[in-house]
This record gives sequence, C-alpha cells and structure tokens, in this order.
Amino acid sequence: MDNKNIYRARKITEEEIKRQADCTAKVRERILSERDGGARRACCVVTYGCQQNEADGERIAGMARDMGYTITYTPEDAELIIVNTCAVRDHAEKKALSVTGGYKHLKVKNPDLKIGVCGCMVSQEKMSEKLKKSYPYVDFVFGTESIWRFPEILCRNLFTEKRGFYENTGDEVISEEMPVERKSSFSAWVSIMYGCNNFCTYCIVPYVRGRERSRRPEDIIKEVEQLVDDGYKEITLLGQNVNSYGKEYGVDFADLLSDICKIDGDYVLRFMTSHPKDVSDKLIDVIAQNPKIERHFHLPVQSGSDRMLKAMNRHYDTEKYLAAVNKIREKVPDISLSTDIIVGFPGESEEDFEATLDILRKVKYDMIFSFIYSKRDGTPAARSTEQVPDDVKTARFLRMLKVQEPIADERAARYKGQVVRVLCEGRSKNNEAMFTGRDSGMKIVLFEGDESMTGRFVDVKITEARAFGMTGVVVNK
Ligand code: SAH
Ligand code: SF4
Ligand code: F3S
Repeated sequence: MDNKNIYRARKITEEEIKRQADCTAKVRERILSERDGGARRACCVVTYGCQQNEADGERIAGMARDMGYTITYTPEDAELIIVNTCAVRDHAEKKALSVTGGYKHLKVKNPDLKIGVCGCMVSQEKMSEKLKKSYPYVDFVFGTESIWRFPEILCRNLFTEKRGFYENTGDEVISEEMPVERKSSFSAWVSIMYGCNNFCTYCIVPYVRGRERSRRPEDIIKEVEQLVDDGYKEITLLGQNVNSYGKEYGVDFADLLSDICKIDGDYVLRFMTSHPKDVSDKLIDVIAQNPKIERHFHLPVQSGSDRMLKAMNRHYDTEKYLAAVNKIREKVPDISLSTDIIVGFPGESEEDFEATLDILRKVKYDMIFSFIYSKRDGTPAARSTEQVPDDVKTARFLRMLKVQEPIADERAARYKGQVVRVLCEGRSKNNEAMFTGRDSGMKIVLFEGDESMTGRFVDVKITEARAFGMTGVVVNK
C-alpha cells in the first residue's frame, strides 16, 4: 500500500494525559467538598446530531462522572449542562441555539449553574463568536478537537470564573484515554474512526470534524471485548465512512469486522455509515459469512441523477451504485437496505428529481432518510447560484415520501408471519402499553412484554408489517 498520502493523527502526549488527570482530581475534590446536604452535583449532557455525536456525548459524561458529578438526563436537575451540538442542517443549529437559550432561565434560578457548548456547530468560528457575543450566560465553548481536554476546560472555568472559548485549530488527536458513561446497558456505540475526507459539496462535516483518522484495530477490539464481557448485546461501529477505515495500518474495514466477529459471545454488530464508492466485494463477503453482523446495510445514495452525484462530489454514478446494491442483495438476500437522500441540491431540475424517484423504485429500500437541502456556509454548494426555491424543495420532498411509502410497505410485507429476533429496548415511548426493539434489519417492532425483556433478545412472530414498523407476539418467553 502507498502510505505517502496517509494522514496520521497526533497521539496525545503523556504530559497532556497527566494534565487532564490532574484537572480531573482538582475538580473532583471541589465538587465532592461542595456536597449540599449529601447530594452530589449533577451533570447533564444534551446531545443533538448523529450517533458519532452521541458517542462523544457519552465520553463527556464519562469525564464529568470522573470529576465527581452524578449524571442526569434532566437539565433542570443539573448544575453543569453541556450542549453537544450538530451543524449538518440549518434546523440542527437553530435547535441547538434555542435549547441553549432556554437554559438562561435555569441560570437565573441557580447562579452556580455552568453551561458549556461543544460539538460540530461551535467548531465553526462564526458560531463560537456568536455564542461569545450574544449568549453571555454560556460559560465555555469547545470544538470537536478539544473533547479530550474537557477536564482542563471545566477546571479553568471553575477556578478562574473566566469564560473560555476553544476553537478547532487543526490539532487532531486520537485519545484512547477518555472514560465513558454509556446511556444504555445493552447497546453501545464504538467509534472506529473520526473525521471525513470526502468533501461532498453540500456537507459541513469535513470542516467541523477534521481529517479522517482511524483508531488502532487492537484498541477497538479491546473495547468491544470489554463491552461483550460487560453484557452488551448490540455494538454499533461508527465512522463517517467506515469503508475507508484503517489506511494508516494497512488494514481495511472488512478485516476489522471479521476480527471483531471472532470475539465469542451473544451479541450482534452493526456499522454505519458506508460510502457507496468504497463498498468492496471483500466487505460484502465478510457480512455474508458472519451471522453476528446484522442484516442491515445503510448505503446513502443522496441522488438518483448522475449529474447531481457529480456536482455533489460523490465519486460514483447510479450504475456503480446499483451494481453495489445488486451484489449485496445477491450475497445477502435477506438484507434490509436503507439510504439518505437530499432533495433540492442546487441545480436539481425536475428531470434530476425524477431520476431520484426512479432509483427509489429500482432499489426498493426498506427505509429512507430524506432531507431538504440546507445551505451550509463555507461549502461549495452554498456558493452555487442555482439554489432551488424553498417551495419547490418542499413539494419534491413530499412527492418523494408518497413514492416511497408503498415501496416500504411492500418491503415490510415480507416479514408477515415470520419470526424475527429483536433486541428489546424497553417500553415504547409512543405506545406505553407495548414494548419495542429492532430486528436484524433495523425495523421497529412492537410487542406485548414485560420489564424483564429489556436488554434481551426475544423472538417475535410478526402479525402486522407496515412501512413504519411491525407488530408481533413474543414466542419464546
Ligand atoms: N457520513 C455519512 C453521513 C453524513 S450526514 C454519509 O456520508 O453518508 C447524514 C446525512 O445528512 C447525509 O447522508 C446527507 O443525506 C444529509 N446531509 C448532509 N449535509 C446536508 C445538507 N447540507 N443539507 C441536507 N442534508 C444534508
Ligand atoms: Fe459529509 Fe460526504 Fe463525509 Fe458523509 S462522506 S460526512 S456526506 S462529506
Ligand atoms: Fe451533525 Fe456533526 Fe454528526 S454535524 S451529523 S453531529 S458529525
């Protein structure tokens, strides 16, 4: 392999690790000595965005726990709130800003409350500046690069009372030293790589998450072994483009997956996201041969028009994409396929949009995640003069959902009468009378159950199967 152009992230130094440990101890001493009637101070990390961000949020909570905080999921109960933001669409940023704004009144009630904002949104200089100027009750702001320095950042704020702003500077590190406080006791995220090098022309992620860098295979395997030992049942490997994993070490994602599958235990593996340009026969073979890997493939197509795909800098055309889908379905016939679609990318004509509807009809996805194009400052597509008017985008978006609905219903129908294995996630939030979980293909399944099923695999016979979920009866109580 030609290693010349491979970017290697800096490892954090012993000195930096020690500094975080010292800050952790210093904050811990203070937090524990300030016990109010025996209660410890509570930290709430509020995360928006993708699973990568969720995984980061659990690391931040882990560091807060080590610094003496208890972890709460109710901001009103917290004396430290960290808003972990997303920047992928305008809506995500608006949400993060309005939520942060909403915590102002909590600070009025409790002047000791500390508010920090981190994540992708504030990894853009202009957003960090905006918080500095217009959100004076925000105590500190740190970009995605600085997560591992959270103890130091919090410590400085607590001991100096000075506001702190830590922008990304290109100092990208891989830190294996961060503790973690997982939200779930049976389903775990494992980041296998960070950043993205693809620069799809609509996307902000490469600008806010930096260059692609992979964790060492042995570190990942150690983490998964520990999770399996701890009884985790579902492990999801995360990266913006997992198919390009491992270039630094001369291994690829297929190698990593098959090595992880050698770990014994009653658990299943998922992964996301795969870029269609990098789907290899080797990866498909590994999935086909390993029953531990769930039968779900998320393969974002973004558009069905070759002209748009080129303008998006996706490095594949529909022919190549469909060939990958066919290969996957040939080798793993029972697989469930999902995708991401962007509607109204600059320059999208009626014909281009029809081509996207066409690919939906051709592939027949089990699920689609569709997004109206959102202009992201600093990306090439935002500078295009061919922006599609909002009303056209919305109309196309709704038309697309209409096309997909019967397809998803038809795909779901194949499950009726079948018994599927479901990891029970607990009581359904939308339907309190039922329990819920997902099958191998990521389909939501509802069933009557009891608390003892939470975190366990149950076999469910499907009685009703619709696009947005299935209902069934547990057959192996
Ligand atoms: N790395 C993953 C996912 C990145 S973000 C991938 O490449 O597939 C998740 C999805 O958000 C993308 O797949 C895309 O469909 C959507 N998205 C990204 N930028 C967007 C934008 N500016 N407007 C609308 N949707 C966007
Ligand atoms: Fe964004 Fe493209 Fe990278 Fe995905 S692959 S994160 S869509 S730039
Ligand atoms: Fe959002 Fe950042 Fe993920 S922009 S989608 S939280 S990588």
